Amino acid sequence: MTRSLLSIDDLSRMDIERILGRAESFAEVAGREVKKVPTLRGRTVINLFYESSTRTASSFEIAAKRLSADLVSVRAAGSSVDKGESLKDTIQTLSAYDPAVIVIRSPYAGAAALVARWSAAAVVNAGDGKREHPTQALLDVYTLRRRLGSLDGLKVWIVGDVLHSRVARSNVLAFGRMGCEVTVCGPPTLIPREVESLGCRVRHSLDDLGEADVIYALRMQHERMEGSFVPSLREYAARFQIHARRLSPRQLLMHPGPVNRGVELSAEVIDSPQALIIPQVESGIVVRMAVLFDLLAGGGGRAAPEPQAQATAAEPQPA
Ligand code: NCD
Repeated sequence: MTRSLLSIDDLSRMDIERILGRAESFAEVAGREVKKVPTLRGRTVINLFYESSTRTASSFEIAAKRLSADLVSVRAAGSSVDKGESLKDTIQTLSAYDPAVIVIRSPYAGAAALVARWSAAAVVNAGDGKREHPTQALLDVYTLRRRLGSLDGLKVWIVGDVLHSRVARSNVLAFGRMGCEVTVCGPPTLIPREVESLGCRVRHSLDDLGEADVIYALRMQHERMEGSFVPSLREYAARFQIHARRLSPRQLLMHPGPVNRGVELSAEVIDSPQALIIPQVESGIVVRMAVLFDLLAGGGGRAAPEPQAQATAAEPQPA
């Protein structure tokens, strides 16, 4: 059966460490002038995005190109989805091109799992509604590990709209797997019931934020809200915004982007040296290269080509 990456739940700590180790080997490629290896030459990657995306879509595209895959990017706007084609028909159509991987983002929880049933391709979940966003969690763990080394015993607070956040769900699982103590924090209306079963604590105020080593702020997911979950954004910001007085110099700050400046984060903390927001974006490329590699070339005992061998075998790149 083709392997897919649908949820962090499918990965053990060893699986995560294998993928992160691979990403580290690709970081060396990212430092070269010709940032390309031939690993996926002749394989087709389809990026199918039914929801807005800047970082995830562009970094999957760059990742596929750096692995020399043939890449097709389909956005819902401008595709036959606009004409009423169903997800199943779209997948059957795209599967006729015999892709090795389909990367899918959808507003519907469970969409990636359905695609995995309908297609022989490996499927990567690039965000399914409010359920999961496993590659975001992997790149976050990667970024933090690069900065701090081991994550065992690290106290991570995930603050904001946990209820509607696929990033929160995947990150509670991923940070937990890596040995962190995870706390989710937000107003009661924005914390899912029984979230503790994922392996985290719940707090409804920032009173104990000082204990956190890492603060991971979330965007208010307006697009997934019907009705009002907070009295007003101003009141939300007054109670939960991370700003300079709430961030101690020893704490690191993360955010998956896009940031709503002045809501979940104040401008000065976004631009502070404690913020890992841009390193997170950078990590997206090598981690997504590692995920594609792991699914397509990592199994079956095939080792990664030596970095130098890759350099000589690399295709010439147009300037
Ligand atoms: C996140 C997403 O789309 O789930 N963004 C991302 O992938 N970097 C978070 C968000 O939209 O708030």
